[in-house]
Amino acid sequence: MRCKNTVFLHQSKIDFMTNNFKMVAKTLFGFEELLANELRKLGASNVELGTRNVSFEGDKGFMYKANLCCRTAIKILKPITSFNIFTEEDLYKKVYEIPWEKYMSVDGTLAVNATVFSEVFTHSQYIALKTKDAVVDRFRDREGVRPNVDLDHPTLRINVHIDRNICTISLDSSGESLHKRGYKVENTIAPINEVLAAGMIMLAGWNGQCDFLDPMCGSGTILTEAAMIACNIPPNLNRDEFGFENWPDFDVDLYETIEDAALSKIRDFHFKIYGSDTDSKSLEAAKANIDNANLSEFIELKNQDFFASEKETEKSLWIVFNPPYDERISVNDIEQFYASIGTTLKHGYPSSQAWMITSNLEALKFVGLRPSRKIKLFNGKLEGRLVKYEMYEGSKKTKKQ
Ligand SMILES: C[S@@+](CC[C@H](N)C(=O)[O-])C[C@H]1O[C@@H](n2cnc3c(N)ncnc32)[C@H](O)[C@@H]1O
Repeated sequence: MRCKNTVFLHQSKIDFMTNNFKMVAKTLFGFEELLANELRKLGASNVELGTRNVSFEGDKGFMYKANLCCRTAIKILKPITSFNIFTEEDLYKKVYEIPWEKYMSVDGTLAVNATVFSEVFTHSQYIALKTKDAVVDRFRDREGVRPNVDLDHPTLRINVHIDRNICTISLDSSGESLHKRGYKVENTIAPINEVLAAGMIMLAGWNGQCDFLDPMCGSGTILTEAAMIACNIPPNLNRDEFGFENWPDFDVDLYETIEDAALSKIRDFHFKIYGSDTDSKSLEAAKANIDNANLSEFIELKNQDFFASEKETEKSLWIVFNPPYDERISVNDIEQFYASIGTTLKHGYPSSQAWMITSNLEALKFVGLRPSRKIKLFNGKLEGRLVKYEMYEGSKKTKKQ
């Protein structure tokens, strides 16, 4: 069926010539460049950076590959049409015209997610509801029955993005957010998001070239992401499902070919990843998660107070960690806690570099070391900084003290 919409026609033209289509990968603030590089390395074309997203082109196989292999993507959206709207009725009419029967059957279920940047349309929930109404009304009018809504496990996730008057409708090829890698079986109070953990390690420039330590490892997220980076294991290998698997055009043979090709690129890792924590329950959770990800041969865990520890080898060491911020995990004397981080790094960890994320910018001042880099990131809604401290051999002093 031909669609009158100009953007839709342009999209079809790209399809016709190369089988490529446009996609938009969503990410966290500050990871746009990392994600663009990941996509380029995987073979994407026309990669363009946005705010918290990167657009690119590729074919169906590439869409599978991007979902399986991108460490810093939260979602891969496939835009199907775009149009101008001035009222909510415009939205309803335009969405109603989309041939939804191409993308799902009436027995399937749907969920609609909306993001809105507009002075006219302000309620994303209402936009999602209006979109859902248009889809189900189209089915009811054509087939006499309507698909149901399932917010948790829908057959089709639809994404609506409104930027002033421009509305883009996309299919969400990922399904659940890609930070849900599938290896987590146990959680702790304040686990870090897997995408944030992977991006921090990538910003730190660690890819398996030396030993690695997370001295406050909690449920082991940073350790697991580090092991997958070191061995070049696709981050979403353990996921139960991607959204595209429910699409009528899902090509299981193509997916398996893509997965086999990614698995053939797994490499050896010749160093060690260490994780420690003072909380034995967290260490049990870390062990369960690491075992479930089949990564225990690369990671050593121990119950250890970081402030009573020191570096155990002469070799260089990369440290990446996420200490308590005194938010979800409260700390008696947070200033003293951050001061102890500084003292331990300075006296106990020569020949290392430490990357630490925190949203407690006041406490950060008490570390007492001058960071050689400071990168603004968000941990959920909390604005934070990823800071880098470099400790040198010999003087055991940090640079530029
Ligand atoms: C924010 S959580 C880390 C979460 C972890 N990144 C994850 O994904 O689960 C901070 C961790 O620091 C640990 N911790 C607090 N004080 C510590 C210390 N002195 N030495 C080692 N670990 C400590 C806590 O037990 C907690 O597990």
